[in-house]
Order: sequence, then C-alpha cells, then structure tokens
Amino acid sequence: MGIQWRDSLSIGVEAIDNQHKELLTRFDRLLNACESGQGIEELKKLMTFLEDYVHSHFNDEEALQKLHRFPGYVEHHQQHLYFIGQIKALREEVNREGVLVHNVIETNNLLLKWFLNHISRVDAELGRFLASKAA
Ligand SMILES: [Fe+2]
Repeated sequence: MGIQWRDSLSIGVEAIDNQHKELLTRFDRLLNACESGQGIEELKKLMTFLEDYVHSHFNDEEALQKLHRFPGYVEHHQQHLYFIGQIKALREEVNREGVLVHNVIETNNLLLKWFLNHISRVDAELGRFLASKAA
C-alpha cells in the first residue's frame, strides 16, 4: 500500500501540514495492519487514535479559520462534520463482532481518498486565503 506525504499536499501552514502528515502515517498504519492480518485489537487501537486525532485536528483548523475570518468556514466545517461521521461509522464497524477485515480496508480506502481530496482542494484553499492575508 504505502500512503506517503508529498510536498504538493502542503497548504503552507506548518502546524496543519504536520497534523496532515501524522494522519496519513496513521491511516497507512491502519491499512497495513488490516492487510497484514493483525488482530482486531490493533485495529481498534489505531481507530481510537485516528478518531481522537481527527477531532483535535479539525478543531485546530477551524480555530485558525475563525481567527482569520475565513469566508469558507461554514462549508469547510460541514465537510469536517461529514468526515467525523464517517470515521465514527468506521470505528463502529471495527468494533462490531465478527467484522470482516476486507470491509474495513474498503471503508478505510474511501475515507483516505476523501481525506486526500479534502487536503488538496478545501484545505489548500484555506492555505491560499491565509497566504493572501499575510502578503
Ligand atoms: Fe479541513
């Protein structure tokens, strides 16, 4: 598998970029754990971390948006809420008795695609907005 950070994903805000890197690393670890047949306990641990981290990451991002009166805040916030709902559903899937790992992989891949798309489009827009304010 291997999900890697690439410079084109940078939104130009170091703290946020670092959180995005951490999230990608954890997603990658979760996928690897699924694919290498690691126990469901490991998946649960990773999933709990991912869910908590996503929450605090989105809070940080949104605090930045409010601080700088980012005009796209409401729409951006909606996207975050959607993702939080999906992550929660995935955690519940992982916690379910008799879960099929390939289902977890599938869901995880969809979430990862969404996340990469979000970074490169929506978060990048925030990055451009902040850069234009700083200029
Ligand atoms: Fe975002």
